[in-house]
Amino acid sequence: MSWREKCGIFLPSMFGSRSDEAISAPVNTLIPVTCSSVYTPPMRILVTGGSGFLGSTCREILAQRPDIQVTVLRSGYGPTPSETSVSSIEAPSSLSAQDLSRSLGSVTITHIVHIGALSSPETCEREPERADYSNVRFTKMLAEYAIGIGAHLTTVSTDLVFDGAKAPEGGFTERCQPCPNSVYSRSKLLAEEATLKTPSNAVIRVSLLYGHTSSPSLGVLGWMERAFREDYPLNLFSDEYRTPTHVADAAHATLTISERSLSGIWHCGGPARLSRVEFGTLVAQALGYDASLIRPTSRRTLTNGPTRPEDVSLNSEKLWGALGMRPRGVGEALG
Ligand SMILES: NC(=O)c1ccc[n+]([C@@H]2O[C@H](COP(=O)([O-])OP(=O)(O)OC[C@H]3O[C@@H](n4cnc5c(N)ncnc54)[C@H](OP(=O)(O)O)[C@@H]3O)[C@@H](O)[C@H]2O)c1
Repeated sequence: MSWREKCGIFLPSMFGSRSDEAISAPVNTLIPVTCSSVYTPPMRILVTGGSGFLGSTCREILAQRPDIQVTVLRSGYGPTPSETSVSSIEAPSSLSAQDLSRSLGSVTITHIVHIGALSSPETCEREPERADYSNVRFTKMLAEYAIGIGAHLTTVSTDLVFDGAKAPEGGFTERCQPCPNSVYSRSKLLAEEATLKTPSNAVIRVSLLYGHTSSPSLGVLGWMERAFREDYPLNLFSDEYRTPTHVADAAHATLTISERSLSGIWHCGGPARLSRVEFGTLVAQALGYDASLIRPTSRRTLTNGPTRPEDVSLNSEKLWGALGMRPRGVGEALG
């Protein structure tokens, strides 16, 4: 059974060669996807960031795969997940690949899915040393460890490696040149470079993630829902664009890239380029809240914090085409 079937996610039976054809497929043509595991020998995955927003979703999907041996590598920054079926170890504070190997002992690893990071751009800006430790040096340790044992490494990165000043028509493709403009985005680009020093490794750049997870991280959806529930005005930018992606779709894509040992850079965005206002309105409609609580504002009102790219919409045709799946729109994913 595939990741998506396990998650109850349904896909169109046929995909056009272009993802925009698939995107416009009516919802009622969806049937379960039937692709199965592609990695034949027993897959033994090491996962980082398992307590976070994306990581907890990946962990839950993996927990339903008894054919895969999963070990979670904890950074010590997040909460300890309550689920006990997955074994976990503490990452060595030395950030040494040898120490990591010693900590893993007899556990052998074939694939590493590196999700963990200091993911808040604001905290990275305030604490660049911690961003360097968690995002750059931690990734270098994993990349070195992967080389030593011949494992495949998939690192999760971000759409923010682009500065968004000149988003091309149709969104940034994998061929576009990154142009990071904050401590966070520079650290993530360095993590990408450390990963791709081994050309058979993969980087998946995810866009703004939303959804309900078991993680204490609420994400953008949790923040919006709280405002809607408590009836207070929600200031959202009308001039900032992303390609929001449901967290389960991103988790599925990340794990499939790993399972198939794909290489290179993969963009993972949702089906539509949306302003924050458009996104909030779709969320309100899907969850039955009052969208009139949304107050459109401009990015120009922001005076502090890290630079916020205006438009980092991703063109993800390569990913969804290769995976044979279609990312869900907000209404479908939350409805
Ligand atoms: N959420 C988004 O919208 C979004 C968008 C683009 C890219 N991303 C990328 O996707 C990945 C996952 O993001 P996420 O939203 O799931 O992040 P998250 O909820 O903040 O979780 C990140 C996890 O990373 C681990 N971690 C490692 N070093 C850390 C540190 N210094 N401080 C805090 N946690 C640290 C923790 O897990 P353990 O304690 O289990 O180690 C933590 O739970 C990250 O690489 C992020 O850069 C996320």
